[in-house]
Amino acid sequence: MSQLQLAVLASGKGTNLQSILDAIKTNKLNATVKVVLSDKSEALALKRAQDEGIPAYYVNHKDFIDKQDFEKALLEKIKSYNVDHIILAGFMRVLSSFFVQKAGVPILNIHPSLLPSFQGLNAHKQAIDYGVRFSGCTVHFVDEGVDTGPIILQSVVPVLPGDSEEILAKRILEKEHDVYPQAIQLLSEGRIVCRGRRVIIVEEGEA
Ligand code: GAR
Repeated sequence: MSQLQLAVLASGKGTNLQSILDAIKTNKLNATVKVVLSDKSEALALKRAQDEGIPAYYVNHKDFIDKQDFEKALLEKIKSYNVDHIILAGFMRVLSSFFVQKAGVPILNIHPSLLPSFQGLNAHKQAIDYGVRFSGCTVHFVDEGVDTGPIILQSVVPVLPGDSEEILAKRILEKEHDVYPQAIQLLSEGRIVCRGRRVIIVEEGEA
């Protein structure tokens, strides 16, 4: 069992970041958040990090000549904190193959649908418009595609008649807050084994 050293990237409210911080505080997750980065100056995620005394940086993509330059800056910052995993927690910018290849550590993402359904933006709207009876969230490793990497954990919720995007998002978000810290804890326990695209979860005590 090793204490994971995390960099968290977030663009918005940061409730997933908060669930990770809370799980650490209550000893459900053996990890440290070393640094938080955001592409949005107003992201509440930055404030949540500052409140916990965690270094938090806003990196404005407009300050760079192109996407690769922006991603280089993100990676430089991340690497200066010696992290062993990068956690995307509502980071709303698609990272390129360059970032994925140069990261040098596994990258995790959480997506508010049961992948491979409803990849990309507006996952809740896509689920409602399609008429599925169930949706949920997926924690997965990031590969060079968009929401295509090997799946670690998923959690399912019903889609009810009359659900708005907001109501469905709220129902899914509650599950996200359980499943993301759980997935990271499985990694810290060494219980995640990748066989191609299939992720095997090793029984407790057998890792
Ligand atoms: C979450 O629902 C997360 O799954 C989603 O953004 C929200 C962030 O909420 N991520 C994506 O859609 C990524 N494609 P938060 O800022 O409160 O954690």
